[in-house]
Amino acid sequence: MSRLVVVSNRVTIPTGDAKAGGLAVALNDLMERQGGLWFGWSGGSSTDEKRCNVPAIVDHGQVQYATVDLTPSELELYYNNFSNGTLWPLLHSLPEQMNFDRRSLQGYRAVNQRLSDVLLPLLRPSDTIWIHDYHLLAMAAALRARNVNCPIGFFLHTPFPSPDMLSSVPEAALFIRDLLSADLLGFQTANDAENFSASAQRIAGAARLAGGGLQLGNRQIKVGSFPVEIDPRDFAEMAEENQGSPETERLRRSLDGQHLILGIDRMDPTKGLRHRLAGYRRLLETRKEWSRQTTFLQIAAASRQDVDAYQHLRDDLEGAAGRINATLGESDWVPLRLISRGVPRDAISGFMREARIGLVTPLRDGMNLVAKEYVAAQDPEDPGVLVLSKFAGAARQLGAAILVNPVDPDEIADALDLALRMSRPERQDRWQACWEAIKDASALGWGRSFVSALSRAGSEIPRPART
Ligand code: F6P
Repeated sequence: MSRLVVVSNRVTIPTGDAKAGGLAVALNDLMERQGGLWFGWSGGSSTDEKRCNVPAIVDHGQVQYATVDLTPSELELYYNNFSNGTLWPLLHSLPEQMNFDRRSLQGYRAVNQRLSDVLLPLLRPSDTIWIHDYHLLAMAAALRARNVNCPIGFFLHTPFPSPDMLSSVPEAALFIRDLLSADLLGFQTANDAENFSASAQRIAGAARLAGGGLQLGNRQIKVGSFPVEIDPRDFAEMAEENQGSPETERLRRSLDGQHLILGIDRMDPTKGLRHRLAGYRRLLETRKEWSRQTTFLQIAAASRQDVDAYQHLRDDLEGAAGRINATLGESDWVPLRLISRGVPRDAISGFMREARIGLVTPLRDGMNLVAKEYVAAQDPEDPGVLVLSKFAGAARQLGAAILVNPVDPDEIADALDLALRMSRPERQDRWQACWEAIKDASALGWGRSFVSALSRAGSEIPRPART
């Protein structure tokens, strides 16, 4: 069997305290069961030549983790500026949040090249390579340029924007062409896959194939949607167990019978947090009956703090939270609790089960696994209500949630009011429909479906001619 080589910006070595972002949650199971090599950035930066160019190898179970440091300048240009300051807002169709400068673009491309150089000696001819996410858009092409002939797949965890939006970034065509060096390109939703194909046609002159793929020169590239999944039954079990954990007990006691509205996010400009707080404020201003009857707990783990937009967001949210509490709170009631630290997943699962409303309102999101986790965490007899942005990939599957436009505070306030008043039978019906949509899927199944599509694509597709 071919060895699976996963390449991602962040590599999650299961040490117990690793960050469990969406990508890690989705991939850990596949890697642990199937084994293979997981290559990427160590998460550290140094000027030490060796640490940057010779991978540190850690063996854990069947997986070999190989990581290198970035230099401080690479970290700035590749990760902070171009990946998170340019591509992230671009891919989420938020151009007003986007910065662009040519030096960062070059720094980004140089890191994709350098990581390819470091990976090269670790590769075997029979490997299957799976590259992840927006940090590594140029990597498939960089590997092909180094005569790597294995099947290469690429999966984008974020949304993919329309061709017009994409062309707002200078040199966007470069990335489209680079991606077309892979054999299989996977996206979260059919809409994202279609946006990519339309861009490839318009920008790179690729021809559309009947089965949904693309043709460029003598090569065919498969393009498809592979919505990321969670392990719903495992999460449900964890939530049930944590319902009685000391953390959940303390939270329950502190609520003193009020309804809990819960938001769980990284503190990220795409997550719609400013509008979400405004929506809760609108609820309290227009429906006085929910004063003292609700508490909104927003856990927004600080993230990417070296990027200006993230620092501003933090300042804004802390200011907005203070104003809500100062103007709408009472001597014995604090409406909003904002926590900017991460909270362990098991504790969160208990909080989710306790929450009457899961408030998940990103401006745009590739998938949003929190929405799926909130559904999985509910007690089927007395479930809470998911209020979900219609611009999250998860909304394609969770149409029975209350779907909202995340920029409209009035719509958020209406949805909260509806959810708070909703009868138990309606909550059960909506929950059941959401559960049906996710219950038979798994993170492992998602990973396997991509890898098997890649092995089919890799065997069908003629390799590019070598020069
Ligand atoms: O796709 C977005 C993503 O890379 C997720 O995998 C992860 O949850 C998150 O961003 C982590 O961000 P960062 O690596 O920048 O801390």
